[in-house]
Amino acid sequence: MSFDKNILCVGAGYVGGPTMVMIADKCPQYRVELVDVNQARIDAWNSDHLPIYEPGLDQIVRRCRGRNLFFSTDVDLAIRKSDMIFVSVNTPTKTFGQGAGQASDLQYVERTARKILECAKSDKIVIEKSTLPVRTAEAIKRILHSGGSDVHFDVLSNPEFLAEGTAIQDLLQPDRVLIGCDDTERGKAALEELASIYANWVPPDRIVRTNIWSSELAKLVANAFLAQRVSSINTISALCEATGAQVDEVAHAIGLDSRIGPRFLKASIGFGGSCFKKDILNLVYIARSLALNEVADYWEQVVRVNEWQQDRFVRQMIAEMFNTLAGKRIAVFGFAFKADTGDTRQSPAIRVCKELLDERAELRITDPKALANARLELGENELIEYVTDPYRAAEGAHAVALVTDWQLYRDLDYQRIYRSMTKPAFLFDGRNLLDHQALFHLGFNVVPIGKPRLVHF
Ligand code: UDX
Ligand code: ADP
Repeated sequence: MSFDKNILCVGAGYVGGPTMVMIADKCPQYRVELVDVNQARIDAWNSDHLPIYEPGLDQIVRRCRGRNLFFSTDVDLAIRKSDMIFVSVNTPTKTFGQGAGQASDLQYVERTARKILECAKSDKIVIEKSTLPVRTAEAIKRILHSGGSDVHFDVLSNPEFLAEGTAIQDLLQPDRVLIGCDDTERGKAALEELASIYANWVPPDRIVRTNIWSSELAKLVANAFLAQRVSSINTISALCEATGAQVDEVAHAIGLDSRIGPRFLKASIGFGGSCFKKDILNLVYIARSLALNEVADYWEQVVRVNEWQQDRFVRQMIAEMFNTLAGKRIAVFGFAFKADTGDTRQSPAIRVCKELLDERAELRITDPKALANARLELGENELIEYVTDPYRAAEGAHAVALVTDWQLYRDLDYQRIYRSMTKPAFLFDGRNLLDHQALFHLGFNVVPIGKPRLVHF
C-alpha cells in the first residue's frame, strides 16, 4: 500500500505516543511510525500491554497498528523513509554541570538532530515536539545544517498541550494547535504542510501560527500560568486552615468571575507531572541568564510554594499524630501525580513518602496504575510495602494519607476501612476528595486541605 506521506516520531513516550496514534487514526492516508531506542518500550507498544496508561488509547492503537501505524527501533531506516520528523525525546531537568536542577538536559535532542543529519538523504521537515527552552530550534537548525550536504531541513516548533489522563480528548478537540516557523517563505510553507495534517480533524481557527520563538515560549508560559494557579490556591488553603474559611468555597466564589474562571483552582497536596516544575525552572533559568532576576524570582516562588505545601502536609500529619510517626503504619492512597495515569514523575507522593520514611513511619503504598513506577521511585525497603488492594493497605494502619485523586478512593467502603485500622484512626485528605463529615461520623479524625480539621478530641 502506498501512502501520501511518511510521518516519523522519534521518542515513543507520553507525548509522542498518543500524538502519533491520533494522527494515524485521523489520517489513514499517511504512514505513521514511532521509533525509540528503548527496545522494551517498542515491544510494549507492539503488544497488548502498552507502555503508558491513557484512557481510550489502547482501542485506537488496536485500530491502527499494522494498518498505518508502526513501532520500531530502527531509527536510521525510519529517518531515511520519512518526510516529516517529530522530535519527542525526553528533556529532563539537568542533574549535573551548569544549570543543574534548572536547565533542560538537551543531550537526547542533540543526539536525535545529529542522527537525522547522518541518515537523511532527502529534504525533511523537523518538528520540535518536546518541551524545550526558547531558542532550541535554533540549535537544532544549526546542527542539521552543519553537514554541508544538499539536503534541506525546515525546523518547526509545535508544542504539545495534552494533559495526561485526558490526552485522547485533548488531542481530539484541542483548544489550539500552535505551530511556529521561521519567517521565511520556506518556513511558512513547512508550517502549512504541518497545519494540513492537523486540518484533517482540527477546525482551522484553532490552528495558531506564530514565529518560532513565540511558539517555544508560549509552551513554557502556559504551563507556568497553570502551575501558578495551583500554587496560588494552595497558599490560600493555608490561610483558610488558619481562619476557618473553606478553600473550595473561596475557589468557587472567585472562579465565578469570568475573568478568573473556575479551572485549576483545586487546592491540593501540590502539583506534579513531568512538565510544570521543569518548564518553570526552564523559565527561571532563561530569565536569570538574561539578568532578569525579578522575573526569575517571581516564577521560582511557584515551585517553592509547591514544595512547601507538600512539607506542610507531612508536618500536619506529625502534629496531629502526637508528634511521632516512628513505627506507625501509614496507608498511602495513590502514588501517581494525578488520577487516570500511571505516571509518577514529580509526583508529590515521592517527597511526602520520603519525608514519612525519614520519620521512620511504615508505609503501605497502593495505587491502581502506578505501583510499578512507585517501586522504581522509592525502591525496596523494609519500611515500605506495595499493595494493590487499598483495603489491605489500610489494615492495621494508624492513618490513611490520600495523595492521588483516583475516583476509586471515593467509592471505597470507609466503614470497613475504619474498622480495620488502629485507633484513633486518622485520614489526611491531600486532595479534598472524600466526604469529610461522613468520615468524621464513622469515627475518623479527618484533616483536609484548606478546611477546618474534624477531630474527636
Ligand atoms: C500539564 C498541562 O496541563 C498540559 O497542558 C501540558 O501539556 C503538560 O502539563 P499534566 O502534567 O498531564 O499536564 O497534568 P495537569 O492536569 O495539568 O495537572 C498537573 C498537576 O497539577 C497534577 O499533579 C494535578 O493533580 C495538579 N492540579 C491540577 C492541582 O493540584 N489542582 C488543580 O486545580 C489542577
Ligand atoms: P515525554 O513525556 O516528553 O514524552 P518520555 O520519557 O515519556 O518523555 O519519552 C521520551 C522517549 O524518548 C523515551 O522513550 C526515550 O527512550 C526516547 N529517546 C530518548 N532519546 C532517544 C533517541 N536518541 N532516539 C530515539 N528515542 C529516544
